[in-house]
Amino acid sequence: MKLLKDKVMSEGIVLGNQVLKVDSFLNHQMDPVLMKEVGKEFARHFEGEQITKVLTIESSGIAPAIMTALELGVPMIFARKNKSLTLKENILVEKVYSFTKQETNEITVSKKFLDENDRVLIVDDFLANGEAAFGLARIVEQVGAKVAGIGIVIEKSFQPGARRLKEAGYRVDSLVRIAALENGTVTFVDDQTNE
Ligand code: G4P
Repeated sequence: MKLLKDKVMSEGIVLGNQVLKVDSFLNHQMDPVLMKEVGKEFARHFEGEQITKVLTIESSGIAPAIMTALELGVPMIFARKNKSLTLKENILVEKVYSFTKQETNEITVSKKFLDENDRVLIVDDFLANGEAAFGLARIVEQVGAKVAGIGIVIEKSFQPGARRLKEAGYRVDSLVRIAALENGTVTFVDDQTNE
């Protein structure tokens, strides 16, 4: 997605060889025009999949997920990382380990909003090791619903998440794929293969 690539090139900051800081348009300040285009793009990718719900995890997944849900005309649900005061019973819970933060979070979704007839599109801002996406997929599968696809805004292809998810049988569509973050420079997968 050219608009997104351009934004990564102009505003992304490479930290070390692992992390891309994008807090001017995705992780802190959010660019609504870009998020709208991201939503349209995911809707186009998954339009044949009869999606009934879009599922993400708070907080940075919410913006791309709500725009995708708006385009698809379905509700969006975000898994909570922190215990909700009002959400105590009838919840779906999964543990998600973050390699980046070296901590485990319990993510929760109310049973009210998913059932076995749902075809769920999982959307998230970053894909690194895939732990968040696997946790969301396990939540969907707990109720017997189907993971119809996984839409990722920025995939770090040098980390194992995308490969692991594909090997597990999930369809993963990423809008930009990063091959390497080295010497302060972003290399995209497409640039490497001269596509
Ligand atoms: P994983 O789910 O793919 O295994 O990823 P990991 O545990 O490594 O990532 C934990 C958090 O760090 C996630 O955000 C993820 O989006 C974010 N993250 C991973 N790699 C990068 C990166 O290169 N750049 C940035 N900016 N973020 C990265 P989170 O803790 O859920 O944060 P938020 O959604 O509340 O903002």
